[in-house]
Amino acid sequence: MCGIVGAVAQRNITPVLIEGLKRLEYRGYDSCGVALHVDGHLARSRSTSRVADLETQIQETGLQGFTGIAHTRWATHGAPATKNAHPHFSPSSEDARIALVHNGIIENHDELRAELTGLGYVFQSQTDTEVIAHLIDHMYTGDLFDTVQQAVKRLHGAYAIAVFCREEPHRVVAARQGSPLIVGLGKGENFVASDAMALAGTTDQIIYLEEGDVVDLQLARYWIVDVEGRPAEREVKTVHAHTGAAELGPYRHYMQKEIFEQPRVVGDTLEGVTGIMPELFGDQAFRVFKEIDRVLILACGTSYYAGLTAKYWIESVAKLPVNVEIASEYRYRDSVPHPSTLVVTISQSGETADTLAALKHARSLGMTNTLTICNVSTSAMVRECKLAYITRAGVEVGVASTKAFTTQLAALFLLTLTLAQVNGRLTDEQEAHYLKQMRHLPVALSSVLALEPQVIAWAEEFARKENALFLGRGIHYPIALEGALKLKEISYIHAEAYPAGELKHGPLALVTEEMPVVTIAPNDALLEKLKSNMQEVRARGGQLYVFADVDTHITSGEGLHVIRLPEHYGLLSPILHVAALQLLAYHTALARGTDVDKPRNLAKSVTVE
Ligand code: F6R
Repeated sequence: MCGIVGAVAQRNITPVLIEGLKRLEYRGYDSCGVALHVDGHLARSRSTSRVADLETQIQETGLQGFTGIAHTRWATHGAPATKNAHPHFSPSSEDARIALVHNGIIENHDELRAELTGLGYVFQSQTDTEVIAHLIDHMYTGDLFDTVQQAVKRLHGAYAIAVFCREEPHRVVAARQGSPLIVGLGKGENFVASDAMALAGTTDQIIYLEEGDVVDLQLARYWIVDVEGRPAEREVKTVHAHTGAAELGPYRHYMQKEIFEQPRVVGDTLEGVTGIMPELFGDQAFRVFKEIDRVLILACGTSYYAGLTAKYWIESVAKLPVNVEIASEYRYRDSVPHPSTLVVTISQSGETADTLAALKHARSLGMTNTLTICNVSTSAMVRECKLAYITRAGVEVGVASTKAFTTQLAALFLLTLTLAQVNGRLTDEQEAHYLKQMRHLPVALSSVLALEPQVIAWAEEFARKENALFLGRGIHYPIALEGALKLKEISYIHAEAYPAGELKHGPLALVTEEMPVVTIAPNDALLEKLKSNMQEVRARGGQLYVFADVDTHITSGEGLHVIRLPEHYGLLSPILHVAALQLLAYHTALARGTDVDKPRNLAKSVTVE
């Protein structure tokens, strides 16, 4: 989603801005731009193409400057078009005094637009962002820091902004409320960005701005005020952000590479777990786990499906009731809070606006025991929660989540065992059994990934379809949901998932010879029931594509295609089955020729509501 980089320095800052945008590219965007202070005036370059094309455009025009801001935009208000790309200028392109970039959504933009139009401002874009640029220009007092502090009081909604002014060439002012923003400190130069990763290789001295902070960045100093305008001290952290996306190596896409990284990163996530110890989740974990008697999981998308899987685990092994809520719904609905709840957020990025808001909502209802399962140790989610378990998936570049999901599952299984232990529900034998299974996961996953050639053969068939159904039962129902999500995200085939027992209550009406029905068939207690559900599909001519564990006695026949998974993995089986479904989605998308790593309309890190 949108990304910000800004700098005030004594050298041409364009390469730093472009490099920063490249590091933020994986989050998804549809346009990008850079604005610089050049010899007493403001200049900019914008593009609806890739950052690499913007870079060429800038090289061709020779644009250089010591102070500047840059942005990748993911359209919310106004189509992806050059005129809507940031930075935005005010009062006009020809006579620009203010340049501004913005992440987030300004909810009162209509009202402000009407007011500023009345004052004579002419809008050149359809964005909510342009109102902030004009507002700051209108309120400009000769001191940008002071002006921005006053101007943000007029904004309702979420924002992270970076702004500079023609009259103050060595200054960038930035502010945040509801969207992440960090400051990077250099020697005689300072930076701002939406994510520390944007500044990897430039500086590792990072300040995480807090809600309502406004920062004044100059060459040799910076100054922060809090939401009340009081001087604020913020800790400077040394952050070794990843230096960007790794090489593709032998893979065609990041998604494929990330699917094949799963044995290693699941192993990394569980590395060092030699026994079940609450401290793995934080110093206060034992006390917190003792205090709670129920769990509330908050997440979005794929992370939500990880939460749904964990519900089956926690209820069956730790015997604690679990409620799993879609974060964007939970934050706005009337729910019944209980103080002895463990609130668990699950997030790959740790910056998802809806999940962060849901967490804050839960806390405001008195549920203060919070834990996050997150892939980014420096993220807002980790900072906001009392306890954390950091998954070690590494940077996930493909927009469709794969390795982040399986590492979340690994961490959630560990949480399940820990809660069971604290509740006296885990015997030493069970602990030893599950630990052994967890250690074997990388090997088990590798043997599932070795099925790729068989999956490719199916994908050729799938590529010609426009609809698909996914069936699972019990703990594999969330995996069916995730398989359907993966397929629709990257191949644009309409796919829906059902618990197999629900078929006859409606979706069976959709089943014809044209409908592929992907079925997850582990060798578990529900297998015989599932076989009956499969009969219901076959009787209507539906084409079954079954991922069956060994010893299920399901064999290929007319309208029944079977890929056999090497072993049945008990409670951890979802982690194996989902890898097969990821491969199916990937190869189907490949056969359809879609942009696998950057599917249309989607962003990697969803930092707006
Ligand atoms: C789907 C996908 C999304 C994310 C969702 C939450 O492949 O990646 O559904 O899972 O946007 O993101 P995080 O986990 O960063 O909170």
